[in-house]
Amino acid sequence: MIQLYHVTMRYPSGIEALREVNLRLHEGEFVFVAGRSGAGKTTLMKLMGAELTPTSGQILVAGRNLGVLKRSQVPYFRRGLGAVWQDFRLLPDRTVTENVAMPLEVLGLSRRKIALRVGQVLELVGMEQYADAQALWLSGGEQQRVAIARALVNEPSIILADEPTGNLDPDLSYEIIQMLRDVQSRGTTVVIATHDTALLELFNERVVLLNKGFVIEDEGGEPAVLAPEPEVTP
Ligand SMILES: Nc1ncnc2c1ncn2[C@@H]1O[C@H](COP(=O)(O)OP(=O)(O)O)[C@@H](O)[C@H]1O
Ligand SMILES: [Mg+2]
Repeated sequence: MIQLYHVTMRYPSGIEALREVNLRLHEGEFVFVAGRSGAGKTTLMKLMGAELTPTSGQILVAGRNLGVLKRSQVPYFRRGLGAVWQDFRLLPDRTVTENVAMPLEVLGLSRRKIALRVGQVLELVGMEQYADAQALWLSGGEQQRVAIARALVNEPSIILADEPTGNLDPDLSYEIIQMLRDVQSRGTTVVIATHDTALLELFNERVVLLNKGFVIEDEGGEPAVLAPEPEVTP
């Protein structure tokens, strides 16, 4: 579960990227965060990933109160999240397998366990036949599938995808979102930020619409519940 209570994010420049945002996402839910460029989508994703600290308000992610998360706890917290970006962020000179294995290597798992798990997720995204290919030579759609495999390899409870289809043409965009739908159907919470309204129409899913930092619509969501200060330990 992800919850935001009265979250405001003001950058040092004075710009208020989010204003009094209240939001509740259930475990295993699939949600689009929509809005024009500049609406605050990326800021919201970064707050949920503990990459930014809000100016005011409270954020709970998977039972953790991010406001009291110590800096030293952030890497551990992030292991429970998988991130997917618009520009894929693969290491171009490494193979598909090496890219996907990376989050597991920092955990110090055995070679055999890593190979097994990497094989599983590559199969899941239909990229097993590219296991030894260098990431540099893959098409955009293929790179994003590998990036999704990398995001999944840790078995995160939440996937945060910021404009994952921003560099892809419409057919591939559909395919990538469908793939993330499949991920969600196996129990993972999936949050996708997109400015692509055509995509929203293709998928009949909950849409949290941002405009100038405000949530102006939350179709399919419960009304934002303003809970009392939650007592959650980090
Ligand atoms: N690091 C930053 N410093 C100052 N202003 C920022 C920063 N990042 C984003 N902004 C501003 O915050 C607003 C929301 O940006 P962003 O969250 O990136 O929106 P979106 O992802 O919807 O395009 C914009 O006005 C943007 O210029
Ligand atoms: Mg953005």
